[in-house]
Amino acid sequence: MSEQMSPADRAKYAAAHRAAAFVEDGMRVGLGTGSTAAWLVRSLGQRQRDEGLRFRAVPTSQRTAEQAREEGIALVTLEEAGWLDLTIDGADEFDAEFNLIKGGGGALLREKIVAAASERMIVIADIGKEVGRLGAFPLPVEVIPFGWQATQRLIEETLEAADVLGREVRPRLADGQPFVTDEGNYILDLHLGRIGQPRRLAMVLNQIPGVVENGLFVDICDMVIAGYADGRVELRDRDRGASQQDNIELPRPGNLFSDLAE
Ligand code: A5P
Repeated sequence: MSEQMSPADRAKYAAAHRAAAFVEDGMRVGLGTGSTAAWLVRSLGQRQRDEGLRFRAVPTSQRTAEQAREEGIALVTLEEAGWLDLTIDGADEFDAEFNLIKGGGGALLREKIVAAASERMIVIADIGKEVGRLGAFPLPVEVIPFGWQATQRLIEETLEAADVLGREVRPRLADGQPFVTDEGNYILDLHLGRIGQPRRLAMVLNQIPGVVENGLFVDICDMVIAGYADGRVELRDRDRGASQQDNIELPRPGNLFSDLAE
């Protein structure tokens, strides 16, 4: 119920619901991971039921795949799809240059592959995710389990010369054990405080042996749809350099969406 949804949830819902309108019949769509993407999957399921919308989707995680199946969304692998028309996904931070930090949910590798294999990527987020400079949110880096401590050390050495504020690297844990991604890898969270040069950092991190991918998305996002708790949304288009406003009706008490509220 909208009354029971937190302000952040209402903002996420608004952004996700607006983004769902970009999906057209016959499209091949990448579906992101996280709480905002979960609202998107629900909205797309509703469009299928209400409007007979038909599209095929590539999920970016097992979690999203499970939810999409429950919604009756047709899933295909990226190999089967070949290329995607559109990917819609959440973010942990975004800046004015459409750079992102992603991977808070641990799905950054598939998310980056899927977004990079798409004509267009739309990011959906509550406005609280907007930052002047990326880096307050710890930057996730996916690493191969073999020799991960050596990889961590190499990352720490690399950070000494990087334009960042903090340099602490912490292995992500789940129940006291290393968190394992859908691809069977580990995550190191880099507490950087502020990232001066995201593009450069993304490149140097990916050159370290053992690093599979990092959570900096540079030159990938084409549009940000930022949601506000009152249902307002702001659509920012990178190519047009323009921004447009819209209003989304929030879910009514007792409707289908209430179970996703945090
Ligand atoms: C998943 O790995 C992440 O990249 C998510 O897209 C990101 O953490 C945003 O998640 P929320 O929508 O739950 O904030």
